[in-house]
Amino acid sequence: MDDRLWTEVDRYVGDLLAPHDDALEAALRASVEAGLPQIQVSPPQGKLLQLFAQVRGATTILELGTLGGYSTIWLARALPPGGRLITVEADPRYAEVARANIERAGVGELVELRVGPGLEVLPKLDAEGAGPFDLTFIDADKVNTPEYYAWALDHSTPGALIIADNVVRGGTLADAGSDEPAAQAQRRLHEMLAAEPRVGATTIQTVGSKGYDGFTLAMMR
Ligand code: DHB
Ligand code: MG
Repeated sequence: MDDRLWTEVDRYVGDLLAPHDDALEAALRASVEAGLPQIQVSPPQGKLLQLFAQVRGATTILELGTLGGYSTIWLARALPPGGRLITVEADPRYAEVARANIERAGVGELVELRVGPGLEVLPKLDAEGAGPFDLTFIDADKVNTPEYYAWALDHSTPGALIIADNVVRGGTLADAGSDEPAAQAQRRLHEMLAAEPRVGATTIQTVGSKGYDGFTLAMMR
């Protein structure tokens, strides 16, 4: 079993169950052309995010880490008319690409794109009284995942979902001695989750076109 096979299966599943329309295809193309890192969620993962939002009946969504807006489009398409998605991107160049992608997908009305590091933007959102959110997708700078999770906890509706991407990181999650700060951050996240009475949570390991990783799903009680 290797990455090539995982990628082949991702392609098979994606083509049948998470096919791209013109807007998603154009979003990926624009991201490649602008030189953005190709680390957006895979099509099956984008579809999973959309399904999570639909299962929850989310009308308010927060995304940390917009990149080129690919996952933003999947999530925004789960919103009912009048729904709201706030997405935060630290890199102004990525945000510019994302803005065009989001507009092209026809979800610009539902999406508010905020540019700046998450740790700077979140206090502003707080001051503005943003939220509470029915779903938060954390996919930004990995060392700050625990801080983003802590903020989400205090800005979520009952029954809300909090999803964190890239928590397994090739298995370093289980390595207490890892000298990778991003891995230590995911371990801290898990310790916080274990000690938090307000949520139930689990982590699922994944393989696919993005290699070996995994995501955490937490649900507010
Ligand atoms: C990286 C970031 C991601 O969000 C991801 O899904 C995969 C990789 C990274 O920074 O390398
Ligand atoms: Mg990610």
